[in-house]
Amino acid sequence: MEERLSSILSSYEGKREELIPILQQIQGEFGYLPEQAMLEIARFARVPESSVYAIATFYTQFRFTPIGKKHVMVCRGTACYVRGASRVLETVEELLGIKEGETTEDMEYSLETVACIGACGLSPCIMINKKVEAKMTRKRLTDVLGKGEAAEA
Ligand code: FES
Repeated sequence: MEERLSSILSSYEGKREELIPILQQIQGEFGYLPEQAMLEIARFARVPESSVYAIATFYTQFRFTPIGKKHVMVCRGTACYVRGASRVLETVEELLGIKEGETTEDMEYSLETVACIGACGLSPCIMINKKVEAKMTRKRLTDVLGKGEAAEA
């Protein structure tokens, strides 16, 4: 991790206004903001660690825990809502055994919701690792999540 962190930080000057791009790049690299990274960023920018946390916690895009291999995002935008997004979310929660904002113990799946993924014509939809899955039904959900009977056998 140290090497990857150093490599990222080396492309910045350590200015305060660089904190958000640094946090974004580190999250892009690790999938979340590890504690060690927060400490290194604070040292690098010569600011208290609490300042780095204050910025990171202000923005909902940042997370402090690792996400699962499959990042599932259920769309709750208007078009998806009208076409059953609540039911889609309930089904995903049931199939994965986790609630929104959680990650399965085996680190396979993380579940979040999103306001709109820009594919309203395909609603209700979800996204798995940035790939849009359209017109979700229970059957489609079990297939795309790999939770069908054949997958469990
Ligand atoms: S509302 Fe779901 S994709 Fe736009």
